[in-house]
Amino acid sequence: MANHDTERTSDDGLFHPEGSPEAGGPTPAADAGPDPQLPRRKFQHGALAAMAGVYGCGLAAAALTYLSPFPRGRHKESLDAGDSSQFAPGGEPKAFRLNDRLVWVLHDGEAIRAFDAKCTHFECNVVWPSPDEKDYETYRGSFKCRCHGARFDRAGRPTRPPAREPLRELEIADLVATNGKVVVLDRVKETG
Ligand code: FES
Repeated sequence: MANHDTERTSDDGLFHPEGSPEAGGPTPAADAGPDPQLPRRKFQHGALAAMAGVYGCGLAAAALTYLSPFPRGRHKESLDAGDSSQFAPGGEPKAFRLNDRLVWVLHDGEAIRAFDAKCTHFECNVVWPSPDEKDYETYRGSFKCRCHGARFDRAGRPTRPPAREPLRELEIADLVATNGKVVVLDRVKETG
């Protein structure tokens, strides 16, 4: 009973455990006001965590680059355009990508040839008209440049201004040496 008397020393008549502030115990630390060092510590912890995250991401990216089986941006010396039987005389050209070049490969009636698609006027890529284009019949059988209207025949010769120079032809590896495979080299053929 003496113990209950000690716990009920408050004027509000409520039960207060021994040691609570109301029963005469120590005041909680929270009542002493916020810790002035808290914001700075929080900031320091946050900065350290961010630095650790950035460092960890950098290490992970380096490891992935090192381990990746697909190295990016590697320069290719050539492209494999497939078997030469795919390129019949007078057939539709096929488009390929070789490094930063768009390459057209076709049989012009005499030989299989490969052209850098860059127009020799101002370097827009020339296209081969597809049957669903409205001017297909007009420009059928020639490369056209959509920028300023130049045209080139199957042998890459300019047939309509403003382009005056032929398309740049790329070298093709000897078909006998490649067993009939069309291997286009990333090298412009010397003319003359
Ligand atoms: S860039 Fe091709 S015609 Fe001008």
